Amino acid sequence: MPEHTVIAVPRESAPGETRVALTPDTVRRLVSDDIQVRVEGGAGLRASFSDDAYREAGAVVVDGPEGLEDADVWLRVHPPRDRKDLGRHEIDLMREGALTLGLLRPADSEELLDRLARRGITALALELLPRITRAQRMDVLSAMSTVAGYKAVVIAADTLGKIFPLLMTAAGTLAPAHVLVLGAGVAGLQAIATARRLGAVVEAFDVRPAVKEQVESLGATFVEAEEEEEAEAVVGGETAAGYAEQLSEREQEAEHRLLARHVAKADVVITTALVPGKPAPLLITEEMVRGMRPGSTIVDLAAEAGGNCELTRAGETVERHGVVIHGPIDLPARVPVHASQMYSKNLQALLGHLLVDGEIRIDLDDEITGAICVTHAGEVRYGR
Ligand code: NAI
Repeated sequence: MPEHTVIAVPRESAPGETRVALTPDTVRRLVSDDIQVRVEGGAGLRASFSDDAYREAGAVVVDGPEGLEDADVWLRVHPPRDRKDLGRHEIDLMREGALTLGLLRPADSEELLDRLARRGITALALELLPRITRAQRMDVLSAMSTVAGYKAVVIAADTLGKIFPLLMTAAGTLAPAHVLVLGAGVAGLQAIATARRLGAVVEAFDVRPAVKEQVESLGATFVEAEEEEEAEAVVGGETAAGYAEQLSEREQEAEHRLLARHVAKADVVITTALVPGKPAPLLITEEMVRGMRPGSTIVDLAAEAGGNCELTRAGETVERHGVVIHGPIDLPARVPVHASQMYSKNLQALLGHLLVDGEIRIDLDDEITGAICVTHAGEVRYGR
């Protein structure tokens, strides 16, 4: 039996990534007689955590990823990648039988899953965590959506040629900005709260009527149908897990009619609508963008899943019909300190769930571990 469990924190190698999977604060809480944490030099630098801060927290800082090779557990943000600079795949740095945790995007690459399985790696994909009370402290997607909802509003405020709050000045009164938030889940609620803190007048819409109260408690107005026909779109279905169901074509058209008036009045539209496992629902058509005032802006958080706006380009900012449309796909990486802090706390909670007497136990019958385990004992479990 090994003397202690070795946890590895590599430097993220994906382009543009600034987050780190563990912060020094979490390292301090994990290190014990049973657990050693090894951090690749420079892993936290882009999130403002120095190698010295990791050393002070009790980690061993190693020179390159090779120094992590015999680790039992690899904590990462992105899936392992082929590293031209190292001349091998990051999976081949891991010893057989090791465990890796991260946002592994299991739906995107069968090849990656096969490779992990062939190497005998147990891989836990954090995006598959069930949204249940027990897993709330581990819920990485919610944490990242919180950061994204905040940052989306900050980007909009920076783009708009107006200020957000109502100001009464000696030079006259400035009307407050009007912000419309579509989709009031985790990202949407944070966007509403942030826009309200900046003093904007905020409206929000979601197909789940259950969120109306939360929207109103944040000081925003819930968009409601005025005509019976539109009401069809207002009450969409909800799955047992609390997610929205996809709208029918008819319902979607009714939603467009309902939203068109509100989109036209808005200076800023933040879209966050998501139906898990489906392309992003289309909420804003080109026609609706045409109806917006020049100088208005849209921030489309669903860009990566195809966009809630017809004109969104993932990862780009475009101007169409005088409206600036942002399609960011990397918002958590643009807030690396707090995004890493939250991610790290989520991982700490998950490790707490997996560690028994300082050793990792993979119990596939457990509701949480079973749901996120995508490869184990040489087998691909995802999708089976
Ligand atoms: P969530 O599942 O908590 O919220 C999505 C909301 O959309 C739900 O309340 C749902 O009822 C609502 N919705 C679904 N269909 C709708 C429709 N037709 N009309 C109005 N509302 C509808 O999801 P969460 O965590 O808030 O994430 C929101 C989006 O932000 C996701 O697409 C996620 O991938 C994205 N995201 C983007 C990031 C970026 O950097 N761009 C970073 C993090 C998250």
